Amino acid sequence: MSQTPPLLRVRGLHRRFGDLDVIVDLDLEVDAGRALAITGPNGSGKSTALRCIAGSDEPTAGTVELDGKTLDERSPAVRRDLAVVLDDMSFFPDLSVVEHLDLLARAHSIEDIEGVVDAVLTDVGLLGQAGRLPGTLSSGQRRRLALATAFVRPRRLLILDEPEQRLDSAGLTWLAERLNAEKRDGLGILLVSHDAALVESVADDVLALEPR
Ligand SMILES: Nc1ncnc2c1ncn2[C@@H]1O[C@H](COP(=O)(O)OP(=O)(O)OP(=O)(O)O)[C@@H](O)[C@H]1O
Ligand SMILES: [Mg+2]
Repeated sequence: MSQTPPLLRVRGLHRRFGDLDVIVDLDLEVDAGRALAITGPNGSGKSTALRCIAGSDEPTAGTVELDGKTLDERSPAVRRDLAVVLDDMSFFPDLSVVEHLDLLARAHSIEDIEGVVDAVLTDVGLLGQAGRLPGTLSSGQRRRLALATAFVRPRRLLILDEPEQRLDSAGLTWLAERLNAEKRDGLGILLVSHDAALVESVADDVLALEPR
């Protein structure tokens, strides 16, 4: 009997920058409906690992598989499955908050675009800022917009780099609830976090990277 492969499987991931081995032989798995948190001190390679897994950086060695198939970030099916919010999210300066979300929903052929965008704006607390340009938002509001971009599109795996960044205490409570709701909906979550309370509340497994 063949076993179903995990949603995400990473084997032997290695990333070297010059003489520095930042990621050495990293293995991890994320199943649907579960969350894995990567923790570790500044510079331990957490963001590098996420970028290599999400396909925005090239590992020196190792394999990344979705459903047992090598992840190819150029494939539309993979792009549909992966919702990624890294720490360097940038926005179009002349598109409003609602226009960003509308554009993403459209690009992913979401049905009922207006309904979905409205629900996400309400959920992330940006309804009052819907018409504003990213440059006029506070840093926490920009972070909420970054998170909203993941929730307005199809997804099976969420990859989040320090999603707690800049959020106020109500925002942190909302984030933990939202991520737990995503798990209940069957999503897998791979997150990097420095927030022990968020990790405690959301993560089923924790992978602690060592200082480099
Ligand atoms: N493009 C790059 N070129 C050279 N070195 C890099 C590059 N990207 C990352 N590094 C190095 O890799 C190491 C790990 O960086 P990374 O950003 O992955 O750490 P991190 O664990 O995410 O830290 P933080 O908690 O501060 O976000 C650091 O020493 C960093 O300087
Ligand atoms: Mg980082």
